[in-house]
Amino acid sequence: MKITPFALGIIASTLSSLVDALPNPINDTSQTQSSDRMVFAHFMIGIVSNRKSAADFDSDMKRAKSLGIDAFALNIGVDRVDPFTDTQLEFAYQSAANNDMKVFISFDFNWWRESSEATQVGQKLARFASKPAQLMMDGKVFVSSFAGDGVDVNALRAAAGRPIYWAPNYHNPQNLDISKVDALLNWMGWPNDGNNKAPKPGRLVTVQDGDRMYMNALKGKPYIAPVSPWFFTHFGPEVPYSKNWVFPSDNLWYDRWNEMLSLKPRFIEVVTWNDYGEAHYIAPLSSPHTDDGSSKWVNDMPHNGWMEMARPYIAAYKAGASSVNEYIKEEQLIYWYRPAPHGVNCDATDTCMVPADNSTGNYFNGRPNGWETMEDAVFVVSMLKAPATIQITSGNNQRVFEAKAGAFSFKVPMGIGKQSFAVVRDGKMILAGTSPKDIIDGCVCGIYNFNPFGT
Ligand SMILES: *[C@@H]1O[C@H](CO)[C@@H](O)[C@H](O)[C@H]1NC(C)=O
Ligand SMILES: *[C@@H]1O[C@H](CO)[C@@H](O)[C@H](O)[C@H]1NC(C)=O
Repeated sequence: MKITPFALGIIASTLSSLVDALPNPINDTSQTQSSDRMVFAHFMIGIVSNRKSAADFDSDMKRAKSLGIDAFALNIGVDRVDPFTDTQLEFAYQSAANNDMKVFISFDFNWWRESSEATQVGQKLARFASKPAQLMMDGKVFVSSFAGDGVDVNALRAAAGRPIYWAPNYHNPQNLDISKVDALLNWMGWPNDGNNKAPKPGRLVTVQDGDRMYMNALKGKPYIAPVSPWFFTHFGPEVPYSKNWVFPSDNLWYDRWNEMLSLKPRFIEVVTWNDYGEAHYIAPLSSPHTDDGSSKWVNDMPHNGWMEMARPYIAAYKAGASSVNEYIKEEQLIYWYRPAPHGVNCDATDTCMVPADNSTGNYFNGRPNGWETMEDAVFVVSMLKAPATIQITSGNNQRVFEAKAGAFSFKVPMGIGKQSFAVVRDGKMILAGTSPKDIIDGCVCGIYNFNPFGT
């Protein structure tokens, strides 16, 4: 996804970036000093049972820290299903301490019983809360969740036995007693239909609609805004959690980061670091993990360019800047694309053609539900310090664009075959490369693979 410069070094930051780093005079939604802003990344503990020591977390910690991520939100299920949870939490907290990172627990209420397990949640928290790498906020133990609207917060706080900063992801914040929470996370980083699927004609809930809903409910309390690059999942009957849908994601990563620079929320959560099963990972494939069944669409599909693209945006967001331009330290071209057009027919070999448990309503046969919302295009983001010409070749489709200094996005209709990219300035090619992954008019590994490629 990222093309490395072969003719350019990294140019040092200029005085104007220091000016941008001063507190922003705009009366923004965060109502805080810019230095209060933090970026978290959602980290799935459930798929790292194979890690053997704290050292196995070091590369994730170092990489996230270097990007400007302040803390990992460690998503955990329950011991009766994931008996390795405490062991892996110990490793994660230790590695974070060793690498000057912070972590906090995010309780996944798909697994925890919100109606009866508030005390167990508080007790789990108590076990880890005093470790050095625990993220503290206003002197309290930061803790988050996925879902959990019905949890007994008083019981949870009592069992934790110390002040907690409760920042859950309630799904219906409009029904909430706001006095019970310190902040709220919105998970829905994708345009949707209001019912956890892709938008349909006449039913569109934008990510900005979600921002407004949460911020209205919060009445000035801190908002954790989601930033996600993608959503595709394609589990069939081979696992008990069969599900098969996409949210429209094409240029989401670029659009959403730009939105963050105008919204300026108090906190951002990258959704996610390593959820390979839903294809919204930005961590490298080498981050140690087990196969939850998603290797069919994840193998050979790195997303590393998204990670690099986030770096200047995170710096700009933390400085309170409204533009990323002054934060681009290394010129690069980021690209991503699905490996096949969305109309190819894989019915004969796809793994979701047979019946599976559909008690969740999340299972669909064949192409992922919402597949038609994904555009057959190659997406490119230029991050430049001076204007240049961008040349994109997707199969037989060739396009030339004039890019200004700063971050800009372009797209080219998907063409079968080789994918090549070049940046030309003053008659010289300053960046160029051909992707190792061709687009094919067929079925990658036999399946409907809507996970994008890039490295
Ligand atoms: C900033 O915005 C808040 C919330 O809308 C408002 O209550 C406050 O008066 C504004 N402050 C200034 C200085 O405009
Ligand atoms: C699963 O349930 C959803 C919601 O009821 C439905 O739309 C979908 O067609 C079902 N999937 C299958 C394969 O029947």
